Amino acid sequence: MGVPFKVDLEGQVIVVTGGSGGIGGMFCKAVAECGAKVAVLGRKVENCMPVVDAILNAGGEAIPVAADVMSKDSLLEARKTILDKWGKINILINCAGGAVRSAEIPQDQLADQEEGSDNFFTIDMENVKKELDLNLYGTMMPTQIFGECLVNQENANIINISSMGAFGPLTRIPGYSAAKAGISNFTEWSANYFARSGVRVNAIAPGFFQTAQNHALHFNEDGTMKPRAHKIVNSTPMGRYGEPEDLVGALLFLLDPKGSKFVTGVVLPVDGGFHEYLGV
Ligand SMILES: NC(=O)c1ccc[n+]([C@@H]2O[C@H](COP(=O)([O-])OP(=O)(O)OC[C@H]3O[C@@H](n4cnc5c(N)ncnc54)[C@H](O)[C@@H]3O)[C@@H](O)[C@H]2O)c1
Repeated sequence: MGVPFKVDLEGQVIVVTGGSGGIGGMFCKAVAECGAKVAVLGRKVENCMPVVDAILNAGGEAIPVAADVMSKDSLLEARKTILDKWGKINILINCAGGAVRSAEIPQDQLADQEEGSDNFFTIDMENVKKELDLNLYGTMMPTQIFGECLVNQENANIINISSMGAFGPLTRIPGYSAAKAGISNFTEWSANYFARSGVRVNAIAPGFFQTAQNHALHFNEDGTMKPRAHKIVNSTPMGRYGEPEDLVGALLFLLDPKGSKFVTGVVLPVDGGFHEYLGV
Protein backbone atom coordinates (compact mmCIF):
# COMPACT_ATOMS: atom_id res chain seq x y z
CA MET A 1 0.00 0.00 0.00
CA GLY A 2 2.87 2.41 0.71
CA VAL A 3 2.75 3.79 4.26
CA PRO A 4 3.45 7.56 4.55
CA PHE A 5 6.41 6.81 6.87
CA LYS A 6 7.70 3.67 8.54
CA VAL A 7 7.86 2.96 12.25
CA ASP A 8 9.68 -0.02 13.67
CA LEU A 9 7.10 -2.69 14.51
CA GLU A 10 9.40 -5.57 13.50
CA GLY A 11 8.24 -8.87 15.02
CA GLN A 12 5.48 -7.29 17.11
CA VAL A 13 2.17 -9.16 17.23
CA ILE A 14 -0.83 -6.94 16.52
CA VAL A 15 -4.51 -7.91 16.85
CA VAL A 16 -6.93 -5.84 14.78
CA THR A 17 -10.63 -6.40 15.54
CA GLY A 18 -12.84 -5.56 12.55
CA GLY A 19 -9.72 -6.28 10.50
CA SER A 20 -11.87 -7.27 7.53
CA GLY A 21 -13.48 -3.81 7.37
CA GLY A 22 -12.57 -0.70 5.40
CA ILE A 23 -10.56 1.07 8.12
CA GLY A 24 -9.42 -2.08 9.97
CA GLY A 25 -8.19 -3.68 6.73
CA MET A 26 -6.15 -0.59 5.91
CA PHE A 27 -4.64 -0.63 9.42
CA CYS A 28 -3.73 -4.34 9.08
CA LYS A 29 -1.84 -3.69 5.84
CA ALA A 30 -0.07 -0.62 7.23
CA VAL A 31 1.29 -2.32 10.36
CA ALA A 32 2.28 -5.41 8.33
CA GLU A 33 4.32 -3.14 6.08
CA CYS A 34 6.15 -1.93 9.21
CA GLY A 35 7.15 -5.51 10.08
CA ALA A 36 4.32 -6.56 12.43
CA LYS A 37 2.70 -10.00 12.52
CA VAL A 38 -1.01 -9.34 12.16
CA ALA A 39 -4.00 -11.28 13.52
CA VAL A 40 -6.84 -10.11 11.27
CA LEU A 41 -9.88 -10.64 13.47
CA GLY A 42 -13.41 -10.73 12.04
CA ARG A 43 -16.63 -12.62 12.61
CA LYS A 44 -15.87 -15.03 9.74
CA VAL A 45 -12.50 -16.28 8.50
CA GLU A 46 -13.56 -15.92 4.85
CA ASN A 47 -14.21 -12.19 5.33
CA CYS A 48 -10.66 -11.74 6.66
CA MET A 49 -8.98 -13.59 3.77
CA PRO A 50 -8.73 -10.70 1.27
CA VAL A 51 -6.75 -8.68 3.83
CA VAL A 52 -4.64 -11.68 4.90
CA ASP A 53 -3.88 -12.57 1.27
CA ALA A 54 -2.91 -8.97 0.44
CA ILE A 55 -0.44 -8.98 3.35
CA LEU A 56 1.01 -12.42 2.46
CA ASN A 57 1.34 -11.45 -1.22
CA ALA A 58 3.29 -8.35 -0.18
CA GLY A 59 5.71 -10.55 1.81
CA GLY A 60 4.23 -9.87 5.27
CA GLU A 61 2.89 -12.15 8.01
CA ALA A 62 -0.81 -12.45 8.88
CA ILE A 63 -3.43 -14.96 9.99
CA PRO A 64 -7.23 -14.79 9.90
CA VAL A 65 -8.93 -15.24 13.28
CA ALA A 66 -12.68 -15.66 13.70
CA ALA A 67 -14.21 -13.94 16.74
CA ASP A 68 -17.20 -11.87 17.75
CA VAL A 69 -16.14 -8.88 19.88
CA MET A 70 -19.32 -9.27 21.95
CA SER A 71 -18.56 -12.87 22.91
CA LYS A 72 -16.07 -13.53 25.69
CA ASP A 73 -15.74 -17.20 24.75
CA SER A 74 -14.90 -16.48 21.13
CA LEU A 75 -12.34 -13.84 22.16
CA LEU A 76 -10.69 -16.30 24.57
CA GLU A 77 -10.52 -18.83 21.73
CA ALA A 78 -9.01 -16.16 19.44
CA ARG A 79 -6.41 -15.25 22.09
CA LYS A 80 -5.40 -18.91 22.39
CA THR A 81 -5.05 -19.23 18.59
CA ILE A 82 -2.79 -16.17 18.45
CA LEU A 83 -0.65 -17.15 21.46
CA ASP A 84 -0.26 -20.72 20.10
CA LYS A 85 0.95 -19.25 16.79
CA TRP A 86 3.18 -16.37 17.92
CA GLY A 87 3.55 -16.68 21.72
CA LYS A 88 2.77 -13.05 22.58
CA ILE A 89 0.60 -10.03 21.80
CA ASN A 90 2.07 -6.49 21.79
CA ILE A 91 -0.70 -4.31 20.38
CA LEU A 92 -4.51 -4.32 20.18
CA ILE A 93 -6.39 -2.16 17.68
CA ASN A 94 -10.13 -2.08 18.47
CA CYS A 95 -11.62 -1.37 15.05
CA ALA A 96 -14.82 -3.46 15.07
CA GLY A 97 -17.93 -1.33 15.31
CA GLY A 98 -20.31 0.86 13.42
CA ALA A 99 -23.80 2.29 13.43
CA VAL A 100 -26.69 -0.20 13.52
CA ARG A 101 -29.22 0.68 10.79
CA SER A 102 -32.28 -0.37 12.75
CA ALA A 103 -31.29 2.02 15.58
CA GLU A 104 -31.25 5.03 13.26
CA ILE A 105 -33.85 7.78 13.80
CA PRO A 106 -35.22 8.70 10.33
CA GLN A 107 -35.31 12.47 10.90
CA ASP A 108 -32.96 15.13 12.37
CA GLN A 109 -35.75 16.71 14.46
CA LEU A 110 -39.12 15.38 15.60
CA ALA A 111 -40.87 18.32 13.91
CA ASP A 112 -39.54 17.06 10.52
CA GLN A 113 -41.17 13.65 10.70
CA GLU A 114 -43.32 12.50 7.82
CA GLU A 115 -46.81 11.22 8.60
CA GLY A 116 -46.67 7.63 9.83
CA SER A 117 -42.86 7.37 9.77
CA ASP A 118 -40.82 5.94 12.63
CA ASN A 119 -39.36 8.37 15.14
CA PHE A 120 -37.51 8.26 18.46
CA PHE A 121 -40.67 7.11 20.28
CA THR A 122 -41.24 4.12 18.00
CA ILE A 123 -37.77 2.63 17.48
CA ASP A 124 -37.00 -0.59 19.31
CA MET A 125 -34.58 0.13 22.17
CA GLU A 126 -33.18 -3.39 21.76
CA ASN A 127 -31.54 -2.14 18.54
CA VAL A 128 -30.00 0.82 20.38
CA LYS A 129 -28.72 -1.62 22.98
CA LYS A 130 -27.11 -3.69 20.20
CA GLU A 131 -25.33 -0.56 18.99
CA LEU A 132 -24.01 0.20 22.48
CA ASP A 133 -22.97 -3.43 22.91
CA LEU A 134 -21.13 -3.65 19.58
CA ASN A 135 -19.22 -0.40 19.96
CA LEU A 136 -18.64 0.11 23.68
CA TYR A 137 -18.78 -3.41 25.09
CA GLY A 138 -17.07 -4.59 21.84
CA THR A 139 -14.12 -2.36 22.78
CA MET A 140 -14.07 -3.06 26.53
CA MET A 141 -14.28 -6.84 26.18
CA PRO A 142 -11.31 -7.26 23.77
CA THR A 143 -9.37 -4.85 26.02
CA GLN A 144 -10.05 -7.18 28.93
CA ILE A 145 -9.18 -10.38 27.04
CA PHE A 146 -6.14 -9.19 25.03
CA GLY A 147 -5.04 -6.38 27.38
CA GLU A 148 -3.93 -8.93 29.94
CA CYS A 149 -1.32 -10.22 27.45
CA LEU A 150 -0.06 -6.68 26.72
CA VAL A 151 1.04 -5.82 30.25
CA ASN A 152 4.79 -5.17 30.32
CA GLN A 153 5.27 -6.29 26.68
CA GLU A 154 7.61 -4.33 24.42
CA ASN A 155 5.81 -1.33 22.80
CA ALA A 156 2.45 -2.36 24.31
CA ASN A 157 -0.35 -0.21 22.91
CA ILE A 158 -4.11 -0.16 22.59
CA ILE A 159 -5.75 1.96 19.92
CA ASN A 160 -9.52 2.54 20.08
CA ILE A 161 -11.70 4.06 17.38
CA SER A 162 -13.94 6.90 18.49
CA SER A 163 -15.93 9.24 16.23
CA MET A 164 -17.05 12.82 15.67
CA GLY A 165 -20.22 11.70 17.50
CA ALA A 166 -18.18 11.48 20.70
CA PHE A 167 -17.39 15.23 20.79
CA GLY A 168 -21.08 16.08 20.35
CA PRO A 169 -24.01 13.92 19.24
CA LEU A 170 -24.60 13.41 15.52
CA THR A 171 -28.22 13.67 14.36
CA ARG A 172 -30.13 10.41 13.76
CA ILE A 173 -27.64 8.12 15.54
CA PRO A 174 -27.91 8.81 19.29
CA GLY A 175 -26.97 5.25 20.31
CA TYR A 176 -23.83 5.28 18.17
CA SER A 177 -22.86 8.76 19.41
CA ALA A 178 -23.33 7.69 23.04
CA ALA A 179 -21.32 4.52 22.47
CA LYS A 180 -18.43 6.43 20.88
CA ALA A 181 -18.46 9.03 23.69
CA GLY A 182 -18.16 6.01 25.99
CA ILE A 183 -15.15 4.78 23.99
CA SER A 184 -13.38 8.15 24.35
CA ASN A 185 -14.11 8.05 28.08
CA PHE A 186 -12.91 4.43 28.36
CA THR A 187 -9.73 5.36 26.47
CA GLU A 188 -8.93 7.97 29.11
CA TRP A 189 -9.82 5.59 31.93
CA SER A 190 -7.61 2.84 30.48
CA ALA A 191 -4.69 5.22 29.89
CA ASN A 192 -4.48 5.85 33.61
CA TYR A 193 -5.18 2.27 34.60
CA PHE A 194 -2.38 0.79 32.47
CA ALA A 195 0.07 3.72 32.65
CA ARG A 196 2.62 2.12 34.98
CA SER A 197 2.15 -1.35 33.47
CA GLY A 198 3.82 -0.36 30.21
CA VAL A 199 0.67 -0.08 28.08
CA ARG A 200 -0.25 3.16 26.31
CA VAL A 201 -3.91 3.65 25.33
CA ASN A 202 -5.02 6.20 22.73
CA ALA A 203 -7.91 6.66 20.32
CA ILE A 204 -8.36 7.97 16.81
CA ALA A 205 -11.59 9.87 16.06
CA PRO A 206 -12.15 9.64 12.31
CA GLY A 207 -14.26 12.24 10.56
CA PHE A 208 -16.38 10.84 7.73
CA PHE A 209 -15.08 8.01 5.55
CA GLN A 210 -16.97 6.11 2.86
CA THR A 211 -17.06 2.54 4.14
CA ALA A 212 -19.62 -0.28 4.30
CA GLN A 213 -21.04 0.71 7.69
CA ASN A 214 -22.21 4.21 6.77
CA HIS A 215 -22.89 3.81 3.06
CA ALA A 216 -26.69 3.52 3.23
CA LEU A 217 -26.99 6.49 5.62
CA HIS A 218 -25.00 8.82 3.33
CA PHE A 219 -25.51 7.57 -0.25
CA ASN A 220 -28.38 6.58 -2.52
CA GLU A 221 -28.33 3.21 -4.27
CA ASP A 222 -27.07 4.84 -7.47
CA GLY A 223 -24.06 6.25 -5.56
CA THR A 224 -25.26 9.86 -5.49
CA MET A 225 -24.98 11.76 -2.23
CA LYS A 226 -27.97 12.07 0.14
CA PRO A 227 -28.66 15.49 1.76
CA ARG A 228 -26.76 14.23 4.84
CA ALA A 229 -23.64 13.63 2.73
CA HIS A 230 -23.83 17.16 1.29
CA LYS A 231 -24.10 18.52 4.85
CA ILE A 232 -21.02 16.53 5.86
CA VAL A 233 -18.90 17.78 2.98
CA ASN A 234 -20.08 21.36 3.55
CA SER A 235 -19.24 21.07 7.27
CA THR A 236 -15.76 19.69 6.59
CA PRO A 237 -13.36 22.61 5.98
CA MET A 238 -11.27 20.39 3.66
CA GLY A 239 -14.43 19.80 1.61
CA ARG A 240 -14.34 16.02 1.18
CA TYR A 241 -14.79 12.61 2.79
CA GLY A 242 -11.65 11.01 4.15
CA GLU A 243 -9.97 7.98 2.59
CA PRO A 244 -8.92 5.15 4.97
CA GLU A 245 -5.27 5.96 3.99
CA ASP A 246 -5.73 9.38 5.64
CA LEU A 247 -5.84 7.62 9.04
CA VAL A 248 -2.60 5.67 8.65
CA GLY A 249 -0.20 8.45 9.65
CA ALA A 250 -2.09 9.02 12.92
CA LEU A 251 -2.05 5.30 13.67
CA LEU A 252 1.68 4.94 13.03
CA PHE A 253 2.48 8.03 15.09
CA LEU A 254 0.52 6.64 18.05
CA LEU A 255 2.22 3.23 17.75
CA ASP A 256 5.72 4.62 17.26
CA PRO A 257 7.85 3.32 20.14
CA LYS A 258 10.15 6.36 19.79
CA GLY A 259 8.00 9.26 18.58
CA SER A 260 5.01 8.96 20.93
CA LYS A 261 6.34 7.07 23.93
CA PHE A 262 5.02 9.75 26.38
CA VAL A 263 1.60 10.03 24.68
CA THR A 264 -1.32 8.25 26.33
CA GLY A 265 -5.03 8.96 26.80
CA VAL A 266 -5.49 11.19 23.74
CA VAL A 267 -8.41 11.06 21.31
CA LEU A 268 -6.89 12.28 18.06
CA PRO A 269 -9.32 13.69 15.47
CA VAL A 270 -8.50 12.96 11.81
CA ASP A 271 -11.39 14.77 10.21
CA GLY A 272 -10.42 17.45 7.68
CA GLY A 273 -11.32 20.04 10.34
CA PHE A 274 -14.95 18.87 10.92
CA HIS A 275 -15.06 18.94 14.70
CA GLU A 276 -13.64 22.41 15.22
CA TYR A 277 -15.73 24.09 12.50
CA LEU A 278 -18.97 25.64 13.79
CA GLY A 279 -20.26 26.44 10.32
CA VAL A 280 -19.94 30.23 10.50
N1 LIG B 1 -16.46 5.13 8.22
C1 LIG B 1 -16.52 6.20 8.98
O1 LIG B 1 -16.81 7.31 8.51
C2 LIG B 1 -16.19 6.11 10.44
C3 LIG B 1 -16.14 7.28 11.18
C4 LIG B 1 -15.84 7.22 12.53
C5 LIG B 1 -15.61 5.99 13.12
N2 LIG B 1 -15.68 4.86 12.38
C6 LIG B 1 -15.43 3.62 13.08
O2 LIG B 1 -14.36 2.93 12.45
C7 LIG B 1 -14.46 1.55 12.76
C8 LIG B 1 -14.32 0.76 11.48
O3 LIG B 1 -15.44 1.03 10.65
P1 LIG B 1 -15.39 1.03 9.06
O4 LIG B 1 -15.80 2.36 8.61
O5 LIG B 1 -14.13 0.43 8.58
O6 LIG B 1 -16.64 0.09 8.75
P2 LIG B 1 -16.69 -1.40 8.19
O7 LIG B 1 -18.13 -1.78 8.25
O8 LIG B 1 -16.00 -1.47 6.88
O9 LIG B 1 -15.87 -2.22 9.27
C9 LIG B 1 -16.41 -2.64 10.49
C10 LIG B 1 -15.88 -4.00 10.78
O10 LIG B 1 -16.34 -4.46 12.05
C11 LIG B 1 -16.69 -5.82 11.92
N3 LIG B 1 -17.65 -6.22 12.95
C12 LIG B 1 -18.93 -5.80 13.11
N4 LIG B 1 -19.49 -6.43 14.15
C13 LIG B 1 -18.54 -7.25 14.67
C14 LIG B 1 -18.52 -8.15 15.75
N5 LIG B 1 -19.59 -8.34 16.54
N6 LIG B 1 -17.37 -8.83 16.01
C15 LIG B 1 -16.29 -8.67 15.22
N7 LIG B 1 -16.25 -7.82 14.18
C16 LIG B 1 -17.37 -7.13 13.90
C17 LIG B 1 -17.31 -5.91 10.53
O11 LIG B 1 -17.38 -7.24 10.07
C18 LIG B 1 -16.34 -5.05 9.74
O12 LIG B 1 -15.22 -5.80 9.34
C19 LIG B 1 -15.82 1.36 13.46
O13 LIG B 1 -15.60 1.34 14.85
C20 LIG B 1 -16.57 2.61 13.08
O14 LIG B 1 -17.56 2.94 14.03
C21 LIG B 1 -15.97 4.87 11.06
